[in-house]
Amino acid sequence: MADPALHLLRPEYLDQGGLKVTNPADGREVTTIRRYNRAELVEIVERADAARHEWGARTAKERSDVLRAWYDLMCEHAEALAMLMTLESGKPLDEARGEVKYGAAFIEWFSEEARRAYGEVIPTHASGKRIITLRQPVGTCAAITPWNFPLAMITRKAGPALAAGCSIVVKPAELTPLSALALENLAHQAGVPHDLFRVAPAVRSSEAGDVFCTHPLVRKISFTGSTQVGKLIMAQAAGQVKRLSLELGGNAPFIIFDDADIDRAVEGAMASRFRNAGQTCVCANRFLVQTGVHDAFVERLNARVEALRVGDGINHPSGMGPLISDKDASRVADLVKQAEIQGASKAGTAPDVPEQGAFHPPVVLTGVTTDMAIAHEEIFGPVAPVIRFTHESEAMQIANDTPFGLAAYVYTADFARQWRFMEGLEYGMVGVNDGLISTEVAPFGGVKESGFGREGSSHGLSEYMNIKYCLIGGL
Ligand code: SIN
Repeated sequence: MADPALHLLRPEYLDQGGLKVTNPADGREVTTIRRYNRAELVEIVERADAARHEWGARTAKERSDVLRAWYDLMCEHAEALAMLMTLESGKPLDEARGEVKYGAAFIEWFSEEARRAYGEVIPTHASGKRIITLRQPVGTCAAITPWNFPLAMITRKAGPALAAGCSIVVKPAELTPLSALALENLAHQAGVPHDLFRVAPAVRSSEAGDVFCTHPLVRKISFTGSTQVGKLIMAQAAGQVKRLSLELGGNAPFIIFDDADIDRAVEGAMASRFRNAGQTCVCANRFLVQTGVHDAFVERLNARVEALRVGDGINHPSGMGPLISDKDASRVADLVKQAEIQGASKAGTAPDVPEQGAFHPPVVLTGVTTDMAIAHEEIFGPVAPVIRFTHESEAMQIANDTPFGLAAYVYTADFARQWRFMEGLEYGMVGVNDGLISTEVAPFGGVKESGFGREGSSHGLSEYMNIKYCLIGGL
């Protein structure tokens, strides 16, 4: 094995004729892994269902202790997990380290929440009767996870599922299965029963989707990915009325008013727009900047963008990495070109971007108008389109004029306006004077075509539990 980080991959995960995993920074093959066909996926689901009964019968403390041991192992092997992630996704090493910490935090959080899955005693409506509710695991769950956060998007589904007493089978993204498989290995070392939690790369993604949506033993599916695929899953899962959590696409507005702290807004913009080379569902997708601070904001943002160092994630651990594929780099380049043809212009970019590999330079684009594709499509790349506005009502109208509703950001010193935007923005999450909103303690999720269901926080556990109401009469 070429890289020491690969020691977290057990020999049975590898297959010379299997799926080739490559580093998007240079196209180099990292390793080849085993995939599962339809019949094997069915067997994995059935074994997961058989395993959940013993797990669900354990006390909450026993489940909590196993999750805690998994969290400890993730911390112990954090550097190797981060290295695997950088090799498979191109993500700069510092960001990969950050994701391992973020991902592990969900396991820690849900190891604690496992012990707080309280039911209720409801004041009765009739003497001689009593009402209680039980919270019970939904059953066997399936998850389909994306390549942009190959580890944290698994832990924030598997953590609550296992805490609740469910089993869970994960199909990781085919581009980034390595950190996911390493995570499975650590879970099993920590004492999670083998069949209860499986990471199963599929020979064909559609086959995994099909098995998850149609196998009667799968009672819940959690998906993070595009709105287009989310709609297909929703339609297919309707046949058996499965529970769903869908975390889909976004088109986050990042609104800056004349009274905002501009340095703070630039800081937030850098974190929100250029984290993971812009490949984040909650990334600021369009900057709405009030006329009075437009030029100052653009000038300061340009200075920061020009200072970004772009390169492969190991040699530039704190810089900006490549996009996930050459195809994505040209898709983003086409969006920029099209905007330029319609009148936008590049105000700033970074020097010395590698010519080989799936790189796209970070770009600040001014003169953007709402009719341009770049203003309403999810860019998923390091481009900051800037739209000017004059009045507050105009900013609110542009921000809400989208079928998406995941995250939104607003920068203003006016307390009353902060409230107007927290209440008026049609989004599942709003950052006020802050560009980084993701944490295991808060409910992450969208509205409208960005999906439904919440991940993280105490709400994240409820997604994997059914409420059963029991009435006791004759008392
Ligand atoms: C995502 O892009 O889907 C998740 C981002 C996050 O958790 O911050």
